[in-house]
Amino acid sequence: MEASFWIKAWDEGRTNFHLQNYHEKLLEYFPVLNPKAGQRVLVPLCGKTKDLIWLHGLKLQVHGVELYDHAVEAFFTENKLAPVKIREDKDFSHSTFENITISCGDFFKLNETATYDFVYDRAALVALPCEMKKDYAKIIKRSLKKGGKCLLIVYEYDQSLMEGPPFSVVSKEIHDLYEDQCTIKLMEEKRPSNEGPKLGALENLIQKIYILEKL
Ligand SMILES: C[S@@+](CC[C@H](N)C(=O)[O-])C[C@H]1O[C@@H](n2cnc3c(N)ncnc32)[C@H](O)[C@@H]1O
Repeated sequence: MEASFWIKAWDEGRTNFHLQNYHEKLLEYFPVLNPKAGQRVLVPLCGKTKDLIWLHGLKLQVHGVELYDHAVEAFFTENKLAPVKIREDKDFSHSTFENITISCGDFFKLNETATYDFVYDRAALVALPCEMKKDYAKIIKRSLKKGGKCLLIVYEYDQSLMEGPPFSVVSKEIHDLYEDQCTIKLMEEKRPSNEGPKLGALENLIQKIYILEKL
């Protein structure tokens, strides 16, 4: 989607993707990755998710990337954190509070190589239309260290029943996008319990949790 799509969604309050609490699957599956204090986690397309706070609580170096400055400001304000704008470069404006940094700008400009121990992808890959997914996965694969792991949460449903986002991402797509550089483990597939009215209305909605490991 274009940046304007997301800015309009934020401005019009169409942000049902935003959860008031930590994502239950983050709490359940991130510990399985065995994170250690000081390791780096990338949270692409982070919005103002509270999950950043939970990851911060693990004493990880948390790096969110979000295009809309109002969403970034809302994250810090709503969580009563006073960030410091540490740096602006040509692509991003970086704000930091303790071990959380959010870079405001286009994720597709992220230029990191093997710098992250973890990626937490919730409502990021599924937010992208088909034609953007390949470039997105390329950045994720490049950014992860060897042995680095990605916790990936996606939906599968009959795409003819609803226009995305969120888009349905089937297993074959995950394999096509990631298996050249990652092992792929499906941890769970279940109908999610609490996904709001739009997704909840889809009869065959399944949420799948994957752990990818960079080879
Ligand atoms: C579906 S929301 C998910 C937000 C967050 N992951 C969560 O779980 O609440 C997708 C977010 O990605 C942001 N976004 C979309 N395209 C982006 C891009 N190219 N670069 C950075 N952020 C982007 C949108 O502004 C929006 O906040």
